[in-house]
Amino acid sequence: MAFNEMRQFCEALERTGDLVRIKKEVDWELEAAAISRRSLETIGPATLFEKIKDYPPGYRILGGVQATYRRVAVSLGMPPDSPIPAIYREYEEREQTPVKPVIVKTGPCKENIMVGKDVDLFSFPAPLIHDGDGGRYMGTWDVVINQDPDSGWTNWGMYRFMIYNRDSLTGDPSFASQLGFIFKEKFIPKKKSMPVAIVIGADPLCHMVATAGYGIGVDEVDYAGALRKEPVELVKAETSNLLVPARAEIVVEGEILPDVIAAEGPFGEYPGYRTGKSRTGLVCKVKAVTYRSNPILTMISLGVPLDDSSVAAALTASISLKRRLKRPGIPVTNVYAPAEGVTHLVVVGVKSGGRNVAKQIADIITARRAAMNKIVVVDEDVDVFNMMQVIHALSVKCHPLRGIILDEVPAGKANELTPCYSLEERTHKTGGLAIFDATWPPEWPKETLPIKSSFSDIYPAEIKEKVLRNWKEYGLK
Ligand SMILES: Cc1cc2nc3c(=O)[nH]c(=O)nc-3n(C[C@H](O)[C@H](O)[C@H](O)COP(=O)(O)O)c2cc1C
Repeated sequence: MAFNEMRQFCEALERTGDLVRIKKEVDWELEAAAISRRSLETIGPATLFEKIKDYPPGYRILGGVQATYRRVAVSLGMPPDSPIPAIYREYEEREQTPVKPVIVKTGPCKENIMVGKDVDLFSFPAPLIHDGDGGRYMGTWDVVINQDPDSGWTNWGMYRFMIYNRDSLTGDPSFASQLGFIFKEKFIPKKKSMPVAIVIGADPLCHMVATAGYGIGVDEVDYAGALRKEPVELVKAETSNLLVPARAEIVVEGEILPDVIAAEGPFGEYPGYRTGKSRTGLVCKVKAVTYRSNPILTMISLGVPLDDSSVAAALTASISLKRRLKRPGIPVTNVYAPAEGVTHLVVVGVKSGGRNVAKQIADIITARRAAMNKIVVVDEDVDVFNMMQVIHALSVKCHPLRGIILDEVPAGKANELTPCYSLEERTHKTGGLAIFDATWPPEWPKETLPIKSSFSDIYPAEIKEKVLRNWKEYGLK
């Protein structure tokens, strides 16, 4: 059974020991985020702050809600100790069957409505997350919704938004994102404002899907339905025709202005470093906020891994990359971006490899904006999820001269937040890519390939069968 709401998910996490309610008063200014950050770094529980300084009783901040694979497993209705490959398999399998949303007349997100002049974003306990941030962030673990006015295609993405003043936010959706693409193509040329909804505290799988990169024209809500195995309930926004999750905690309705930009950030970014100064962001003029009584404001205290961003984005990026590699016929077996690599490092398993295949993989990655810049390609006998095997293959099968391919990322496609890029590279979104080809060159005759000295490779079948048959009799588990 899918969770319909964030608060129901919190209760489930509490039952599995993955969430702690913090009753002691905490400050929205750094304290809540610092507690959450420390809990993330010690692989502690999600933190639900129930008493926030300066705010009415019942107003809550929730940190780290999907920051571990245990919590991701629970969100999918799986046992919390499910192994990572099982979570990936389940996710991929569910994605095969998109489920359309249902539209309902009203929902809990309409319990309170603030419109026009009454809008005051400071009436929500948006946290100041890091010392030195440009402002208080209302949207970190959010779902941002916008629509192509011509086709009706509705995009869901996760993009950050900072409070600029009482009724405006500034945000950082890049022009390479789907929100940015629709805005640039369909609204800026006509000098029109673009309606958006910034949804905070929907059910957990809606947030997960917002981190994923589906193709142009794909309604992500159908994939939230796929993961939930049930439709998402949507309700019409108050000030636009956008449809928003009916049971969300807070929905900020606004318009992104075509002719104004304003300061956004700096922010402690997801690669684990603050890489930039304040920059100009898109401006969202808020027209209404609808919210549940006793609202929960979801927050990621972003930083060094693991956190919600590194875990969820690694999962959704791996699965979407696998799909994109399969399309042109790359013989891919599996893809795993370890969360510790904050989507900069990815391991790709292939049936047959070699330099050409490695280069093709790199070209597909850089065809879109990409943070991934260290790609390890391994043969199919290596389990991409098993770092013991991956590091072994990298160490002994990747030739230091022929096996490492260095390339430039096309201008505009590199990640502007990658700490190892120079200021100039980050400004122009240029960068580099290193491919570590740890596969056997296809031109090497089979009979010359070194024999792997492992149980499955170096013993005759009858010995392996005997050993496996008698395993328990040897006194082994
Ligand atoms: C926590 C978090 C914050 C993000 N913030 C932004 C952002 O501010 N701007 C942006 O362009 N992408 C951001 N991303 C990446 C997008 O969510 C991701 O690329 C997603 O696929 C966007 O959806 P789209 O493909 O529909 O644009 C963020 C991802 C995560 C996990």
